[in-house]
Amino acid sequence: MANTIAVVGMQFGDEGKGKIIDYLAETADVVARFNGGNNAGHTIVVNNKEFISHLVPSGILHKGKINIIGNGLVVDPKVLTEEIKELKDKNVKVTPDNLIISENAHIILEKYIAEDKEKNRHLGTTSRGVGPAYAAKTSRSGIRVMDFTSQDNKFSKELKPFVKNTTLIINELIDKNKKVLFEGAQGALLDIDHGTYPYVTSSNVIVGGICTGLGIGPKKISRALGVGKAYVTRVGAGPFPTEVKEDIGKHLQGKGKEFGATTGRPRQVGWFDALMGKYAVMINGLDALILTKLDILSGLKKIKICVGYKHKDKIIKNFTTNLDVLENCEPIYEDLPGWNEDISNIKGFQKLPENAKKYIKRIEQLLGIPVCIVSLGPDREQTIIMKEEFLF
Ligand code: IMP
Repeated sequence: MANTIAVVGMQFGDEGKGKIIDYLAETADVVARFNGGNNAGHTIVVNNKEFISHLVPSGILHKGKINIIGNGLVVDPKVLTEEIKELKDKNVKVTPDNLIISENAHIILEKYIAEDKEKNRHLGTTSRGVGPAYAAKTSRSGIRVMDFTSQDNKFSKELKPFVKNTTLIINELIDKNKKVLFEGAQGALLDIDHGTYPYVTSSNVIVGGICTGLGIGPKKISRALGVGKAYVTRVGAGPFPTEVKEDIGKHLQGKGKEFGATTGRPRQVGWFDALMGKYAVMINGLDALILTKLDILSGLKKIKICVGYKHKDKIIKNFTTNLDVLENCEPIYEDLPGWNEDISNIKGFQKLPENAKKYIKRIEQLLGIPVCIVSLGPDREQTIIMKEEFLF
């Protein structure tokens, strides 16, 4: 049995995966990214200093871990070179021993960034050239990392030492029973196949994307953990049935510091959507849930969970990618009582206010999987481990 854990987003990205990956990376041997590019932005707080990684896996901040950028990524050579430099400037060790880039990953060319800005504005993309790079890959006119670094280009000399056959390397590491963490980017509803198309990113962000994005068989993924925020946020365009525009929405946006890690754009916020959650459990085959930012809900009298959509007199109980339904439905809510206490420094589930416990238990019930971690703030210490057996 492999000793590997997948960590993926269950909503529209920005669920707080960066902190969780950083937390789990401490006990892992390898951290591997399998999808996306520098559209992602994982915020990690180390020694009170914030670091946002866009391409380099979050495990780089821990000594002795191997970090892999898989073939499923699209890589902007300038951004990656700068990120490596920034890390080195912060005294983080980055060498070909602890950072490996797949020779089969694809390159984001400057013209793709221009194209993204010009043609994809209506989709609210991050304008990083990610979509056009994947389009070039699929239409077989893309440039692979190995082709790029075999020529005398700007940044090719800097990146070349890191470029290897990651497919072979990761399979060998798994076979040697190394602990491998698969670091997802974005979230289930942004998946190119299963998300709210066309308001999606251009890669498979779900657990299935790990097989193609790293070149491993499905049996080598031993556990799948989904990260879901205690409420939902979305940045960019696209449907969002439980969006809250009134004061409560502003409260969550401000208190939760809901601004994009990559673009700085304000995120729309809304209530937890159990239909979305159940869908993410299904398409990823999730074993357990990691619930983040529960502390942000403190101070609300009532907390709502969406348990159905009403659309043209029909009650819908399962998530759908039909835009007409998502854009025009009325969410059916269950009201739960809130709590007033600041919970951001509480240690242990039992010490949480009764209503916070009830909220967690209700989400477990609705999604049909247990919560294994609750996160109460950006620091490592603000983490309640509920089910150790799901971790390394
Ligand atoms: P693209 O991935 O830049 O093409 O953007 C497509 C959509 O995915 C837009 O709505 C983006 O805002 C969203 N998106 C891409 N990456 C992230 C992320 O890491 N967090 C949140 N949203 C993202």
